[in-house]
Amino acid sequence: MRDTVIFKIHDIDKDSDQLAAAAEMLREGKLVVIPTETVYGLAANALDPNASKAIYAAKGRPSDNPLIVHIAETEDARRLAAALPDKFFELAERFWPGPMTLVLPKSDAVPLETTGGISTVAIRMPSHPVARELIRRCGLPLAAPSANLSGSPSPTCAEHCIDDLFGRVDAIVDAGDCEVGVESTVVTLCESPPKILRPGAVTLAQLREILPDIELDSGVFSSVAPETAPASPGMKYKHYAPKARVILVSGTPERFREFVETRERDCGVLCLAGDDVGLDRRSVIYGKAGDEKSQAHELFGALRKLDSAGMTVVYARISDGSGIGQAVKNRLLRAAAFEQITL
Ligand code: TXA
Ligand code: MG
Repeated sequence: MRDTVIFKIHDIDKDSDQLAAAAEMLREGKLVVIPTETVYGLAANALDPNASKAIYAAKGRPSDNPLIVHIAETEDARRLAAALPDKFFELAERFWPGPMTLVLPKSDAVPLETTGGISTVAIRMPSHPVARELIRRCGLPLAAPSANLSGSPSPTCAEHCIDDLFGRVDAIVDAGDCEVGVESTVVTLCESPPKILRPGAVTLAQLREILPDIELDSGVFSSVAPETAPASPGMKYKHYAPKARVILVSGTPERFREFVETRERDCGVLCLAGDDVGLDRRSVIYGKAGDEKSQAHELFGALRKLDSAGMTVVYARISDGSGIGQAVKNRLLRAAAFEQITL
């Protein structure tokens, strides 16, 4: 058990003392949950193998699933990567700070404990002002996976982090709701052509402006066979899994409504605002139809609600999204362990 301090930081000028205290804890090698624009992260010194090991222990995360290293300035990547291709600087210029993570060959400064034993390192510069200020103040790159217990949905507000990690971390910095709601787009520059390993708010179309030949990795929308080595170790884990059995259903709102009506009375429904499933149905809403940003913003909170409502079987309407809709689809597919019905 650890004593968990909660800091509330809403303004980096007014809450300077709390920021200083959290930064000091990070310098001491402690575990501090921090807000980012995507989801909350469980942060610690990325250059300290013991701090990284403590992250895995606190989350119950398999030790071969590498952590993302967070920086405050593009220049900070120089000590983390063995080489930085020209495209790295173009991408950083265009999308950082923001929800894009770049996988590069790692330098010797990054311990293998941080990268799950592999020779590449994932780097991202978050845009959340509190995250950047903390990185600047502690003067360290911060390893930070999503601040949930391994296997549960990523946390998009401090309450989710408290539910999962209170007593397992040294501090939780509460800065309100995360703006994006799904984790960053992970891009590997270690393959030719470059690949998206995990879709996020920085979209395929946007990335193509700088990397015309970039592709979605085959593991993004289909399951990785257990015997093959996935491009990103995170792909082989079920991930984002609510306790309920989730079954994805694609089809028009009308077909979805008809389908739900024929299901057992006590099933749960995960749907979009305006889907109008009968009032006698137990439903949780994740965003608005046609508004993929709102779906991304609400998805993980909705998955947590399914569990707190004690639902055991849930039918989830899935629409074929482009842009950030691809991230929503990717997370839902994993929450459902790829179980889906097309109407
Ligand atoms: O938005 C985000 O990226 C959040 C916030 C906190 O920054 N972080 C996050 O971290 O989602 P995590 O650990 O929950 O997910 C990192 C993903 C995993 O699927 C992992 O396998 C992959 O990135 N990853 C990390 N390092 C990698 C590497 N060197 N090569 C390939 N995949 C990597
Ligand atoms: Mg995660």
